[in-house]
Amino acid sequence: MHALPKAELHVHLEGTLEPELLLRLAQKHGIPTPYESVEAARTAYQFDSLQSFLNLYYKGADVLRDAEDFYTLTWEYLTRAHAQNVCHVEPFFDPQTHTARDIPLDAVFEGITGALRQGEKEFGITSGLILCFLRDLSEEAALATFEAALPFRDQFVGVGLDSAEVGNPPSKFTRVFANAKAEGLHLVAHAGEEGDSSYIWDALNALHVTRIDHGIACEQDPVLVAYLREHAIPLTVCPLSNLKLKAVPSMKEHNILRLLKEGVCVTVNSDDPAYFGGYMNENYEALVTHLGATKEELKALTCNSFRASFLGEKDKQAHL
Ligand code: ADE
Ligand code: ZN
Repeated sequence: MHALPKAELHVHLEGTLEPELLLRLAQKHGIPTPYESVEAARTAYQFDSLQSFLNLYYKGADVLRDAEDFYTLTWEYLTRAHAQNVCHVEPFFDPQTHTARDIPLDAVFEGITGALRQGEKEFGITSGLILCFLRDLSEEAALATFEAALPFRDQFVGVGLDSAEVGNPPSKFTRVFANAKAEGLHLVAHAGEEGDSSYIWDALNALHVTRIDHGIACEQDPVLVAYLREHAIPLTVCPLSNLKLKAVPSMKEHNILRLLKEGVCVTVNSDDPAYFGGYMNENYEALVTHLGATKEELKALTCNSFRASFLGEKDKQAHL
């Protein structure tokens, strides 16, 4: 399984900020750290909900100040991904988390895409960057962010929707997703992580996304499960994240393999690996340890990761 080539389709670059780098960047910029030490940071990473995690995640991102920081963040992620035989990545970033602190968007793009280019050169890792809107902010803020990102249109392949789900349904962002579609961008959204299955329907019907991030709440609605199967809508599932944020009561109760058996195109991903205790292989390992995933199931999941990607048909086939 470690040796199997894999694609990662659900990872927030800000969520790959390991405590070591967080402390290093705080020192570089002379800013107070929320943690005394790496150990103190890890001890603080205990969550009882999505919001309890987001509070620490946004606090941590405050150390990212210049293009070099975004480069280092992305580079360190790619180095870890390469060590786990991840050969294609479609990472998310949250521009609003940075522009709200007056970090120029061009510094964010320069750092991230510089590292992604180097990753392809040095490791052969291909990539497609996805710009996420924060759903707890307004659609007007998302529209302004999208406008500001258009000069960098050639540096991202899609848009997504993340942050606090419950109370912020996808349909709040209908106009900005329509604009992104008109620009030829791929569309994804977090839905059915903490929210119920109606959030998944809403992402499909109002935003016309072609892939759902998380989506584990789909099981509440058998009609929806059939729809996802019949329309081959992939789910980017994040097992360790779901456990840490208590979206599932225990790994034994995770539905990823049930959905796989039902013919849904589920994939395995790390979400925010620096906070949830594992990168890709640790997520796959959890399925073996707690759900008894077989070799065939692991292979099917890695094949799904390429099928569900935004790679062109030829490149997909080369990986299958
Ligand atoms: N931002 C980073 N990780 C997230 C998650 N798991 N859900 C929603 N927003 C996020
Ligand atoms: Zn996520």
